[in-house]
Amino acid sequence: MPINAATRYIALIGDPVEHSMTPVLQNAALDELGVNLRNVAFRVAPDQLREAVYGARALGILGLMVTIPHKEAVMEFCDEVDRFGELMGAVNLLHFSGTSIVGYNTDGYGASQSLADAGIPVKGSRILVIGAGGAGRCLAHRFCLDGAAQVALLNRTVSRAEAIRDEIRTKQGKTIHIGPLTPEGLETAMQTAQVVVNATSVGMYPHTDSSPVPAHLWRPDHIAFDIVYNPLETRFLADARKAGAVTVDGVGMLVYTNEKAIEICAGFHPSIDTMREACIQALHASTGQA
Ligand code: ATR
Repeated sequence: MPINAATRYIALIGDPVEHSMTPVLQNAALDELGVNLRNVAFRVAPDQLREAVYGARALGILGLMVTIPHKEAVMEFCDEVDRFGELMGAVNLLHFSGTSIVGYNTDGYGASQSLADAGIPVKGSRILVIGAGGAGRCLAHRFCLDGAAQVALLNRTVSRAEAIRDEIRTKQGKTIHIGPLTPEGLETAMQTAQVVVNATSVGMYPHTDSSPVPAHLWRPDHIAFDIVYNPLETRFLADARKAGAVTVDGVGMLVYTNEKAIEICAGFHPSIDTMREACIQALHASTGQA
């Protein structure tokens, strides 16, 4: 479908955005459907954020996906914010809905969806999250909100895990277990966990030989989920697979965030498979690694 005067847009804003795979993923699925809708990305400096948001609304753009460093700052333009956005103090999607700007935070939604696709609903599961940076914080909150039976959080720097535990207790009234990312800490936590999530950057290209989990701790009844998607099969996932565990890669996180944005802004569901395939091809093209 060629771009013409009737084409509608969903846009991504961030600084930088040039590395983003969002336009590639979404446009592959939109092309396939033959709809007159495109995704475009714009680099927006922090001091231009207000002009960008109101300008996008004035141009009739359906919604803005928002990435670093603007996720907190765009909250001030929202008339309404969804529950997860309130919890995180940040949103990654603005939907221009009539005269209102509605903020959504769909971070971590893709993790829960990917696990559900693998036959492991978060609700009722015992989940160990390794890593207490931005990704670990998001996932610990998300799994608590989605009704995990137990969430444990291990981190090299324990004080970051403590801060997240305290925040979840205050904001969600739920208790998570925390501890240091040591061989002993991992051994104990992996005995009770069903799902083990790598939310650190360990194992990411080019450091592909590292994993935060010693290989001998994996059991066939574990489910391993890695937020790292380059390489597609990290050392963490390869070790788990060799031990007979089910593995879930990080591409689903990206794919479902994009699916949700199209659903909220345009009201239909794009193909998950097409976006996943486009993402894997783009990773191959950019690094030759994934
Ligand atoms: P993100 O927002 O992607 O989560 P981040 O906030 O920089 O990024 O967090 C990176 C995470 O990876 C942290 O949990 C970090 O542990 P520390 O809090 O102790 O720094 C973890 N991490 C990075 N390199 C690591 C390594 N070599 N071993 C263990 N954990 C590591």
